[in-house]
Amino acid sequence: MEPTLPWTWYSDPEILRRETDAIFRRSWQYVGHRGQLPEPGTYFAADAGPIPVVVTRAADDELRAFANVCRHRGFPVADGNGKRETLQCRYHAWTYGLDGRLRTAPRSDRERLFEADELSLVPFAVDTWGPFVFVYPAADAPPLRDALGPVPELVGRLLDVDTLEFRLRSDFDLATNWKIACENFLECYHCATAHPGFSSVVDVSPDSYRLETDGLTSSQFGPLRDGRRSAFTGGELERSQFHFVWPNFGINIFPGRPNLSCGPIVPRGPEP
Ligand code: FES
Ligand SMILES: [Fe+2]
Repeated sequence: MEPTLPWTWYSDPEILRRETDAIFRRSWQYVGHRGQLPEPGTYFAADAGPIPVVVTRAADDELRAFANVCRHRGFPVADGNGKRETLQCRYHAWTYGLDGRLRTAPRSDRERLFEADELSLVPFAVDTWGPFVFVYPAADAPPLRDALGPVPELVGRLLDVDTLEFRLRSDFDLATNWKIACENFLECYHCATAHPGFSSVVDVSPDSYRLETDGLTSSQFGPLRDGRRSAFTGGELERSQFHFVWPNFGINIFPGRPNLSCGPIVPRGPEP
């Protein structure tokens, strides 16, 4: 049996700094969905773990991602989401195109050595699975499909992700280190006691409920309890699936009407 991580790793700021370099700078992370970029000229800001990013769909219709960090003094260049031709930093008004190029910087024409071409936003790799947008916070990245492993195919057995319509998003703060929240996602040992409603519908006994790992992913498959089948689902999704994609992305599909909820667990600091 593997021991748990040392307890200091759940509160030490130095560990979070090392996790940022070793984990969040080197992994694909879910940042949002295509519906947040409904037309050319749109953008949204997000977090790849502790790394601020901005995802854009410029006039050329290309999907791009950048560090959401101004090349001047490091202020964010975008908040929320919207439709704009440019991203303008609210500190000294440097203005970037949605393609990341620096277009204007006040009084830069007076600086003989100023090279706007060298001051584009720092590009990150970006890719999609269906409507889901992922960023890898570096210019070069391994393929997204390697990180997702079997998950798209497994989810595809229950529903077509391209037919999903966005319903709602909720953000919530958890008074815990990010790893505790991820670890909770890796087991259903707690389900019988912590989720009595869920466990009355889904058979969480170890003989029925399956947990598998594959590459950077872990997947759980929960069949319905006998007798719940037609009454609960109306003949629709008769199974649940829960997936976790390294390092911080969870996907839930509950029995019943076709549904999918997903999201990243983002550290705000070493502690709550
Ligand atoms: S920090 Fe962005 S313009 Fe100065
Ligand atoms: Fe739970």
